[in-house]
Amino acid sequence: MRSLIDILDLSVEELNGMIATALDIIDHPEKYAHVCEGKKLATLFFEPSTRTRLSFEAAMYELGGYVLGFSEAASSSAAKGESVADTAKIVSCYADIIAMRHPRDGAALVAARNASIPVINAGDGGHCHPTQTLADLLTIRRELGRLDHLTIGLCGDLKYGRTVHSLINAMCRYEGTRFVLISPEELRLPEYVEKDVLRAKGVPYTQTTELEGAIPDLDVLYMTRIQRERFEDPDQYERLKDSYVLTPDKLACAKGHMAVLHPLPRVNEISVAVDADPRAAYFRQALNGKYMRMALILKLLDEAKKPASPAPEETFVTDRFRCRNPRCITCVEQELGQQFRLTAEGIYRCVYCETAAEE
Ligand code: NCD
Repeated sequence: MRSLIDILDLSVEELNGMIATALDIIDHPEKYAHVCEGKKLATLFFEPSTRTRLSFEAAMYELGGYVLGFSEAASSSAAKGESVADTAKIVSCYADIIAMRHPRDGAALVAARNASIPVINAGDGGHCHPTQTLADLLTIRRELGRLDHLTIGLCGDLKYGRTVHSLINAMCRYEGTRFVLISPEELRLPEYVEKDVLRAKGVPYTQTTELEGAIPDLDVLYMTRIQRERFEDPDQYERLKDSYVLTPDKLACAKGHMAVLHPLPRVNEISVAVDADPRAAYFRQALNGKYMRMALILKLLDEAKKPASPAPEETFVTDRFRCRNPRCITCVEQELGQQFRLTAEGIYRCVYCETAAEE
């Protein structure tokens, strides 16, 4: 069953095809108004959400389909101790496609391995958020007219910000991408993104703690919220929470065409005064998310009709290591067991959360 767990599950051709579908939906919404008639999307949200859940629901309604689901773990059987695997099996009896958000890294993969319908990862802990990346790609394309040869500044919480991890994986595959990584030392990118993606692919990037000095070079400035709920030490959050605030005076030295993106919600990292600047694209970005989720639902439901192609054989190591990421789904759902894959860089990584294995 074709699911979307990681943005790398989609090829560049498929990403470009979905952007083309989204642009066609924008121009001809009536063509798509009944294409999902009789189909049901289940939205399983174990973690708060406004944009992602509601844009998924709006997307399914605008395709003529139905929506069922829950918006907090407390109103599902997770509150009684049901596992993600069992929840996925049960929901497969009632719906045609699942969009799931969960606070644990790797939870979406567990759901996909146990569901008999397509699963869309709507955010798994601090790990990935591929459908936000779909919104980001359409936004960059519409704001700047292209996806290649861009210098992209990523600012804020690059450690726990799952949207950043997925966006880097996607943009690395477009020619001429350069990244400027702007974060406090403590919130730099996880090593699995820096080593296995940026360094392994030879993508040019620089790292800095300074926002202002980085702005003049950028085509895209992607601001993020410091992810309070993922900190193990609340004092560290208090120290870092006001690290960056984008204000109109900081934008004065930006390129005239630079687009300011933010997955939202914002806390204080973009001042409200920036909203009036034509380069502020974050509300348009939220709307683009609905169109790309429509394109994604269409694609996965279409693929579900085709005979399944056998999954490629993979060898996992199960006994030599332990996952040391306390936020990994395997830490709470121990019956899952642990699995590690040897990467091209020669590192054993947890298949669920990509953290390097510990002997
Ligand atoms: C993001 C998320 O949930 O990761 N929000 C979203 O989906 N638009 C970003 C965030 O919560 O900071």
